[in-house]
Amino acid sequence: MDSILVTGGGELHGQIPIAGAKNACLTLMPATLLTEEPLTLTNAPRLSDIKTMNALLESLGTEVTTLQGGKVLTMSSHNLDNLTADYDIVRKMRASILVLGPMLAREGRAVVSLPGGCAIGARPVDLHLNAMEALGAEIELRDGYIHAYAPKGLQGNIIEFPFVSVGATENVLLAATLANGTTIIKNAAREPEIVDLAHCLQAMGAKIEGEGTSKITVEGVDRLHGATHPVVTDRIELGTYMLAPIFTGGEVECLGGRIELLEAFCEKLDEAGISVEQTVNGLKVKRGNSGIKAINVTTEPFPGFPTDLQAQMMAMLCTATGTSVLEEKIFENRFMHAPELSRMGAKIEVNGGTAVVTGVERLKGAPVMATDLRASVSLILAGLAAQGETLVNRVYHLDRGYERVEEKLGSCGAKIERISGK
Ligand code: EPZ
Repeated sequence: MDSILVTGGGELHGQIPIAGAKNACLTLMPATLLTEEPLTLTNAPRLSDIKTMNALLESLGTEVTTLQGGKVLTMSSHNLDNLTADYDIVRKMRASILVLGPMLAREGRAVVSLPGGCAIGARPVDLHLNAMEALGAEIELRDGYIHAYAPKGLQGNIIEFPFVSVGATENVLLAATLANGTTIIKNAAREPEIVDLAHCLQAMGAKIEGEGTSKITVEGVDRLHGATHPVVTDRIELGTYMLAPIFTGGEVECLGGRIELLEAFCEKLDEAGISVEQTVNGLKVKRGNSGIKAINVTTEPFPGFPTDLQAQMMAMLCTATGTSVLEEKIFENRFMHAPELSRMGAKIEVNGGTAVVTGVERLKGAPVMATDLRASVSLILAGLAAQGETLVNRVYHLDRGYERVEEKLGSCGAKIERISGK
């Protein structure tokens, strides 16, 4: 297993290109199952999760070709010869559940392994399954698999989620495009990745209205055609790299960044005394002379503060002036980076879904362990400013969501290198 060695100190100066969004690409790719014609995605991120989704789709019969080192993906699902999403692949990546809706819509049946939990929480899929039943599917759970049947096709319906779920909204959106009649999704997720999926499906001939609001209406059509669609910029990678110069000093321009992808996050940076400038090329960030002010953060569904940036924000607040309170409202166990940051000298008290961070002068480098994707990168950010060396172990988590992190930070002057594991 590889590790990343970061030596703290030294300002960052330069530009960081922001890739296409992992969480958009992972929901766009299953859309290939809805048509026999080729679907091409451009600006796709080069990540291990994308490779895993490629492997899953190929196991179902999709032909996937990649160009430009993986930035362009063309998928053709003219004949699906296998309708079982196997546990071996699904267990690696929960987003695999997103093949359920399109397979049901296209073929009238699907067998998908239950994804199981992950480090940040149990992450059940009950909302996905209840929604598929509301669309007329019969669902049976047997031997760790979801057996779903809709022999007469899916029927449009009104689906009201008890709370916001990004994945369940995406699964219904995908499935409803080919259902008989109209589907109305209430309490729908509003993330930019949902809007991006809707735009791609519309380019394929789907009839969708209301994307980006909490009420989405889908009028089912008989068939969808192929399309070429650019993956939206990754707002979580964007927010992550915007924080880097705040740790180290200096100035970094995140290419392709747009304020509207991260308004709540930028408001919190402003509260902490950090200036964010929208330039022609992206978002430019530098730490003010007054250092970092302590702030309070609560994670919420979009347009609230993103849970996927909570760990990175906590790392920044470890050296803020004053005491900050972070509330994690989306996942039940998403503070695993806290004990690792404490190994670096941070003062953090966790109590259930609340973490209280008392700012210290400077963190000290230490060997730390990545436990999930976003915790991994928060430890790297902390290492950029810590005194001495920080060795982040188990960086396979990192490679799931951040392409070439050592190159991107290294190009701006960070002392960072990958140490290949045994
Ligand atoms: C998506 O996960 C993202 N993943 C997550 O990013 C992100 O943190 C999350 O949305 C919230 O924004 C992808 O898009 C691939 P949810 P998802 O359904 O869809 C509970 C990252 O780091 N829930 O909105 O799984 C669930 O347990 C990843 O890139 C149910 O109870 O999230 C959670 O507590 C991490 N039953 C809450 O809802 C269900 O059927 C929100 O989950 C579904 C979800």
